[in-house]
Amino acid sequence: MNIPRRRFVKLLTFGTATSLVAGKFCRHNLLAYCELPPGQEGAVFKIRLSDFPALQEDYGSVRLGINPIGSDFPDGLFYPFIINRDGFGNFYVLDCECRHAGCVVPTYDNTEFVILCPCHGSRYDIDGSVLGGPATEPLHQYPFEFDGNDTLTIHVPCWAFNTQLSILPGGPNSRVQLDFPTFPQVTYEVRFRERPQDPWTLASFATTLGGPADQTSRLGLGTPATIYLDRTTPTGLYAVSMDLFEM
Ligand code: FES
Repeated sequence: MNIPRRRFVKLLTFGTATSLVAGKFCRHNLLAYCELPPGQEGAVFKIRLSDFPALQEDYGSVRLGINPIGSDFPDGLFYPFIINRDGFGNFYVLDCECRHAGCVVPTYDNTEFVILCPCHGSRYDIDGSVLGGPATEPLHQYPFEFDGNDTLTIHVPCWAFNTQLSILPGGPNSRVQLDFPTFPQVTYEVRFRERPQDPWTLASFATTLGGPADQTSRLGLGTPATIYLDRTTPTGLYAVSMDLFEM
């Protein structure tokens, strides 16, 4: 299936950031829109409603994911999730795995008032409850908090990962090495900022120690990745991001 992958990456990022401050390493379990709270395994993912016109309207719905959808099923390890808004300003965050046989369900249809599974016709309500089989159980709901204004903070259990930073020998302008695990069919990028108050910028990297730093994204294969970046400043913060798509 050809997926319309409207890319809306605004530093929608998972994984830990790693900073280099005066030659010392400092690990941060926090990044612009995604946090990995200390002691917790799941990521906390923040969505700005103002980024999604559909979520500012009654019965609006969006579907977000980090790997493509193949023929009815995810191409990678993860199902996308849906965010629905009902007619009373309530939100629902639902996993897209149909509870009948695992197909990926679409967004809420606000003309038929249903989430209709394309495989065998299971019907779900806007909150994920079952309206009609063959599914007998509701779509899984992700817990979240709404700040009453513009931010949904969604608890995603399995999209988090850690990033390890190393400074390679070679003087003040030596390269930085980043090691991180990858999930298959997920696209990774690297962001950099010199100071916490600076905007993040896309960083180019090399995939070999001596190779040119001329790449800006890498497709995950399900194996650990090692990349190398040229240091342009003595201090800074690096982050490995997973691209998130509305699909
Ligand atoms: S997989 Fe959805 S109805 Fe069968």
